[in-house]
Amino acid sequence: MTHPAIAANGLRKSYGDKTVLDGIDLTVPAGTVFALLGPNGAGKTTAVKILSTLVSPGADSGEIRVGGHDLATEAQAIRASIGVTGQFSAVDGLITGEENMLLMADLHHLPKAEGRRVTAELLERFDLVEAAKKPASTYSGGMKRRLDIAMTLVGGPRIIFLDEPTTGLDPRSRHTMWGIIRGLVADGVTVFLTTQYLEEADELADRIAVLNNGKIAAEGTAEELKRIVPGGHVKLRFTDPDAYRSAAATLTGAALDEEALSLRIPSDGSQRELRSILDRLDTAGVEADELTVHTPDLDDVFFALTDSATAPASVPAQPNQPKENAR
Ligand SMILES: Nc1ncnc2c1ncn2[C@@H]1O[C@H](COP(=O)(O)OP(=O)(O)OP(=O)(O)O)[C@@H](O)[C@H]1O
Ligand SMILES: [Mg+2]
Repeated sequence: MTHPAIAANGLRKSYGDKTVLDGIDLTVPAGTVFALLGPNGAGKTTAVKILSTLVSPGADSGEIRVGGHDLATEAQAIRASIGVTGQFSAVDGLITGEENMLLMADLHHLPKAEGRRVTAELLERFDLVEAAKKPASTYSGGMKRRLDIAMTLVGGPRIIFLDEPTTGLDPRSRHTMWGIIRGLVADGVTVFLTTQYLEEADELADRIAVLNNGKIAAEGTAEELKRIVPGGHVKLRFTDPDAYRSAAATLTGAALDEEALSLRIPSDGSQRELRSILDRLDTAGVEADELTVHTPDLDDVFFALTDSATAPASVPAQPNQPKENAR
């Protein structure tokens, strides 16, 4: 029987009287990518640190298992099967990239020859061969991040935790990193990542959880999450004013744009709703020149699910303000 790579029940953590994680449940099937989203201070890093045994969970937490091992009693076995790339770099700038890698190999008790082989292979894979003999302090942010992840992989972990792996990277480096992560998943590695980039979660994650006020505000695939926020619509555009007017008369409830000769019909974008719209147009004998389906993006989800608790306390709540203004 295959067990989930990560399974946490009622994960809790407080610092003093501040509750950071207020009983969250997480299940990450092996070989999948799970993304934890949430505003600054939501507790993402705390969750990563607990699941990777770096910080102990609250005593009132439920059972937590990583790689099939019980966090409470088998932390050592968990450590042996995971890799962690923290939010802040673990690279030692005073030594070279290669030396950083060899140090990791030593920490994993790899025999010298094996350590050299793994190091060479990872430096190659992460495009760091040329920089390998230079002090890591001379690396760019993107190179350091690649070295960071390469170091995480030295022990051949089957589960890796990446805390904001692409923060501060330029778009090209970010895409390179996504390729690296996809490669890991193709090899069957389970990836638990946190990110501030909703596009990143959308691109990589099989499942996404949004953390807010110590709880999981929503969890699902990117598509499922997008469906729970309003804002989805179908847009029809016409070039013939007569066709536009017939459509407007048929599709009552649509928002009209006379100038652009376009209609916006609120819709979840489902096949059933699309068919109903098209049927009504057919019946009226009109044909749209363009039909586009707009689903809300993850930014909409993020703003809908995470509140302004992290905004400065002096700013009064403005419930009537459109969410867009918050960006
Ligand atoms: N060692 C600690 N002692 C006291 N409070 C802590 C400690 N570590 C974290 N916290 C608090 O726990 C909360 C969650 O912090 P955490 O670093 O997990 O957030 P995060 O979601 O990773 O944020 P970010 O997006 O900024 O990285 C914050 O309010 C933080 O101040
Ligand atoms: Mg963090």
